[in-house]
Amino acid sequence: MVFSLQRGLLLVAQLLLSGCCIPAAPSPQNDFFYNHIFRTNGNKEIHFSGVKLQVSSDRPPASAVRGGNATLPCRFWYEPGLSSQRETLVRWSRLPAAGGQMGTDVLVSSGSRSQSFGAFRGRVARRQDFPGDAALVITDLQLNDTGSYRCEVVDGLEDQSTTVHLDLQGVVFPYQRAGGRYQLSFLEARQACEQQDSTLATFRQLFQSWREGLNWCNAGWLADGTVQYPIRQPREPCGGRGLAPGVRTYGRPNPDLHRYDAFCFSSAPRGEVYYLQPSSLRMNRTEAERACGADGARVARVGQLYAAWRFSGLDRCSGGWLADGSVRHPISRPRRKCGPAEPGVRSLGFPPAQQQHGVYCYRPHGE
Ligand SMILES: *[C@@H]1O[C@H](CO)[C@@H](O)[C@H](O)[C@H]1NC(C)=O
Ligand SMILES: *[C@@H]1O[C@H](CO)[C@@H](O)[C@H](O)[C@H]1NC(C)=O
Ligand SMILES: *[C@@H]1O[C@H](CO)[C@@H](O)[C@H](O)[C@H]1NC(C)=O
Repeated sequence: MVFSLQRGLLLVAQLLLSGCCIPAAPSPQNDFFYNHIFRTNGNKEIHFSGVKLQVSSDRPPASAVRGGNATLPCRFWYEPGLSSQRETLVRWSRLPAAGGQMGTDVLVSSGSRSQSFGAFRGRVARRQDFPGDAALVITDLQLNDTGSYRCEVVDGLEDQSTTVHLDLQGVVFPYQRAGGRYQLSFLEARQACEQQDSTLATFRQLFQSWREGLNWCNAGWLADGTVQYPIRQPREPCGGRGLAPGVRTYGRPNPDLHRYDAFCFSSAPRGEVYYLQPSSLRMNRTEAERACGADGARVARVGQLYAAWRFSGLDRCSGGWLADGSVRHPISRPRRKCGPAEPGVRSLGFPPAQQQHGVYCYRPHGE
């Protein structure tokens, strides 16, 4: 990779120049001056004697959830082996959801020094449990930490890298606004998910949900800017019976001009969702908001209800107001008189605000 090698050369040049008077050029990617954090003594020697730098990784554990920790494995070694340690620079970057090699910096580390960047500042560290350990430890995982990360090791003029994919356990749900089907541009879809305490799903997440049974006839935006829909039982209004089950794609439509639904992703809840129906009264939407408030909580968002259903087994046969003005209820143990035979979060749509229902409230942990 020419691009990668050039960047490696630049990093090395900066390391060698550091401590000197010549300002190094910014990295082509992020205007960050590596030599400001990695001051070396300026006389590092580089030997090339047929020694090859190798970098590899394993799959990270599949148990990561929002708020938890994850370790992305990466290790490097030399062939043939070296008798003494060499100074290396480990650089972790995050690859964009839409593909491509230009990542954004996560962590740069050399010896005992390291620096984290952007949304990862203060949440990432390099593990150094054994020689050649370059694993990345991410704490307080966020929903949008899902994705591909590159572990790059730079040593002298050698620059090797490998890619690791981080998955979070969670739940994908289709989302429409009150206006109905196909109302959202790409940006609006992203905002709609965020407003419901979730994030646009990745293709891997949608595909995993399809394998677990998600069957949805409306197309929705994904994080990579594509529009897709997961079909398990092909039927007439849904692409026709002739097509095989699968995740079908509309490709990558113009993000501003075209409108679809959204597929949102949420993971472990950070609070408690519960059904509230004070003294068997039903409430219009305003009264519902007040009732949660009086209980020291807030009306739950859609993503919070899905997370409580998926991770805490929330089960209730009565519809309740949610923050977006919809009325839904979660079913973990399907039973007669309680809708379809599969578990799921049922939606009763967006009724007029004066209709009377219970409400699902949300209270963050520790409040
Ligand atoms: C994540 O790691 C941090 C720091 O090592 C630790 O304090 C915290 O308890 C860990 N959290 C979980 C959920 O394991
Ligand atoms: C990820 O989500 C957090 C909030 O949960 C936000 O602060 C951050 O900017 C997001 N990062 C990206 C790359 O969108
Ligand atoms: C809800 O009910 C209250 C009376 O309890 C009433 O004042 C309010 O206008 C109603 N709101 C809606 C949206 O119907």
